[in-house]
Amino acid sequence: MKTYIVTGATGGIGEATALQLAKEGHTILALGRNRDKGSALEQHGQGNIHFFQVDLVNPVEIKQFFDDTATEFPKIDGIFNNAGTFGKPVAPERITDLQQEVFQVNYHAPEQIIQLAVKRFTNGASIVNNSAIVGHVKFPAMLLPYASSKSALLTLTKTYAARFHGKYRFNAVCPGPVDTALSHALYGGKDKFDLAMKHHLRGKAAQPEEIAEVVCFLLSDKASYINGQSLIVDGGYTLS
Ligand SMILES: NC(=O)c1ccc[n+]([C@@H]2O[C@H](COP(=O)([O-])OP(=O)(O)OC[C@H]3O[C@@H](n4cnc5c(N)ncnc54)[C@H](OP(=O)(O)O)[C@@H]3O)[C@@H](O)[C@H]2O)c1
Repeated sequence: MKTYIVTGATGGIGEATALQLAKEGHTILALGRNRDKGSALEQHGQGNIHFFQVDLVNPVEIKQFFDDTATEFPKIDGIFNNAGTFGKPVAPERITDLQQEVFQVNYHAPEQIIQLAVKRFTNGASIVNNSAIVGHVKFPAMLLPYASSKSALLTLTKTYAARFHGKYRFNAVCPGPVDTALSHALYGGKDKFDLAMKHHLRGKAAQPEEIAEVVCFLLSDKASYINGQSLIVDGGYTLS
């Protein structure tokens, strides 16, 4: 059995992935901000999920998490860098700051987590970064910082894959629309999101578990020959 870090484990895709890994018997270090959701996750995790309250906006909290877990969990077999935020939608020509929080959570936090975890990786460790279908479809102009940070995450994924020559694997998933709190917020509520999804090739978005299955596969040794890839998981959304 393996030990995985999952960020953004308190909701949506991260929660579904943590629960699936726990069901398979693995140990999960589950990160999130919401302590109540973290406690609920632990209760559903068959004794395999350990919640850590970490705000990825704060690099000091990330470092503290690694210090706190070094003795009890000295070896790490994989990471799902999943937590993400789309920030405040704004026209690109009107961006007044660099939307640091978006880049911090979506790019710099995964980067720091990988850096701090590397010395604890076991041979064959697998890292999956949650990107998006950026670069494959026209992205809403109001989400430029989100799209840019997710593109940067793809570059990071391929760079690390090349750097470690297969000793550790680095891949990205690029989900199409998924039925989660994040996408509901983006569309102005679940009803509007569901309505918009009528135009999806298959008429509806993914459930988080459909992405989690793919992530669990990429994290596992079954995917030992997949490295440096960005895998679109979108039910054909990018075809339409
Ligand atoms: N939903 C989609 O259609 C879609 C499509 C493509 C890619 N994605 C990507 O999938 C990932 C997961 O999103 P989701 O759709 O599953 O959304 P979600 O259900 O809203 O979950 C987002 C998770 O990220 C965590 N998070 C956000 N900001 C954080 C911060 N500063 N520090 C620590 N944790 C933070 C949240 O933690 P708390 O709740 O504890 O605050 C939550 O667990 C994101 O990276 C998103 O960009 C989503």
